Amino acid sequence: MGDGERGHAVREWLRGIDVFAGPLPEFEPERAPADPVRLFLSWLSDAVADGLRDPHAMTLSTVDEDGDPDARTLVLKGVDASGWQFAGHAFSPKGHQLAVHPRGALTFYWPEHGRQVRLRGPVAPGTAGASAADFLGRSATARAESLLARQSQYLADAAERDQALEKSLTLVEREPSLVDSAWTLYTLAPTEVEFWQAARSRVHTRLRYERTGADWQRFQLWP
Ligand SMILES: Cc1cc2nc3c(=O)[nH]c(=O)nc-3n(C[C@H](O)[C@H](O)[C@H](O)COP(=O)(O)O)c2cc1C
Repeated sequence: MGDGERGHAVREWLRGIDVFAGPLPEFEPERAPADPVRLFLSWLSDAVADGLRDPHAMTLSTVDEDGDPDARTLVLKGVDASGWQFAGHAFSPKGHQLAVHPRGALTFYWPEHGRQVRLRGPVAPGTAGASAADFLGRSATARAESLLARQSQYLADAAERDQALEKSLTLVEREPSLVDSAWTLYTLAPTEVEFWQAARSRVHTRLRYERTGADWQRFQLWP
């Protein structure tokens, strides 16, 4: 099969995969609450109640010093009036990117519900106490990995990794209250939050909250 034929076959194959299979919930934006945190928690609760996998997983998008975008999946650590929280290592690529350009976007997608939530806004590191509490709530191996401060570096030798990890794990087990000061709990305080509900008809419903001072204004968007 030549490249052109293969490309055509892949396009046909992709076109044949169903999306928004449903059954999908109804979304009435006119009845949405004034506060996007409330609506977000209700959609997340629906995802948890229906047993969706990794319902708190989201994509964090950042921008590097050259203006190039980057994105990866993280888990949500908390949501309150101050914003949406996630945690990561300050020396990781995302940590560097947030240090030079402290803004980001978060995207959630719950496929079985055909629901997407998008947020954008400034990102700020939390207090040392909040970051330490998050760090200490992680598994011993996760803490040991973090202390190596090598996330996303080139791995040339798996044996070197395993040895370093074992040493770090011994340290963590000996000193369970040891905190990695580079582990950071970040908060994205959104200036915009969009709720997107798919419909089989493809007339999707979109509601965007835009921050105006302490309040939120709501706008429906074209699909
Ligand atoms: C479901 C899922 C959850 C993840 N949660 C986290 C997380 O909470 N914090 C984190 O630093 N990395 C998490 N990761 C790993 C990141 O996607 C990423 O590989 C890592 O943070 C390095 O990213 P960076 O090189 O852009 O800094 C998770 C990956 C997946 C697939």
